[in-house]
Amino acid sequence: MFKAAALIVLCAGVAGAHDVITTKITWSKEMSRLVYKRCGMCHRDGGSAFSLMTYDEARPWAKAIKEEALERRMPPWEAVKGFGEFKDDRGLTQEELETISDWVEGGAPEGNPKYVPEAPKQEKWLDAAAPKNTSEVDVASGTKLDAPAQVVAVRPTGLKKGESVQVIAARPDGTVEPLLWIYQYNPDYQRTYYYKKSINLPAGTELQMSPAEAGKIALFASAKKSAKATSGGR
Ligand code: HEC
Repeated sequence: MFKAAALIVLCAGVAGAHDVITTKITWSKEMSRLVYKRCGMCHRDGGSAFSLMTYDEARPWAKAIKEEALERRMPPWEAVKGFGEFKDDRGLTQEELETISDWVEGGAPEGNPKYVPEAPKQEKWLDAAAPKNTSEVDVASGTKLDAPAQVVAVRPTGLKKGESVQVIAARPDGTVEPLLWIYQYNPDYQRTYYYKKSINLPAGTELQMSPAEAGKIALFASAKKSAKATSGGR
């Protein structure tokens, strides 16, 4: 600590910097791209949160950016990686977390502004709440499906704020499908998660949540297939 303080004084005299730069990761190369891709949907002028689109805007938030990212509060995607495979997963990858961490720990340098890419058109943060041509099946822990379902998406509907909830589907043949693991649910960021590949759950499949009293979620099942399967079964 003492050593660092002495260095800061030295550097401040030379370059006017606040921190010692100990990383090659810069805003201009890596961080701007990461922020445009992962944060810009909300953190921009006219977005739902303060802008982080330029170095001058992001630099004062460096410590908070690292903390929010490592705590997985930002971006507020909430679905734990590897538990269900989602289309357009908006959660940060391990690599991205390391980039952020290295940049912040290394003094959050700007680098050469000529490397800053053009800001992209921002995608929408939210997908449609209900996928087209689907029927909604509301389930809680212990619910058994009375008809087969080809599940294309899942949406937390009645979870408690702050709760972390694992949802699995246990098929009658004993196989288990991880459906969703929500980390610290915040209704402000409620969304529908679309699976990369739809999940086939036969009749008799039991939904299990941990904790069991966590609340409710909605499954969206492909309407055509379930309808056919249901009538076929009768
Ligand atoms: C879905 C929109 C959305 C996305 C995407 C998003 N944020 Fe946020 N962020 C918010 C909102 C809204 C707030 C204000 C929350 C509040 O304090 O009420 C916020 C707050 C923050 C804060 C301040 C937290 C504090 O200390 O109060 C930081 C830092 C932050 N976001 C960083 C990021 C970073 C970094 C990313 C991308 C990796 C990101 N956010 C992605 C919406 C978003």
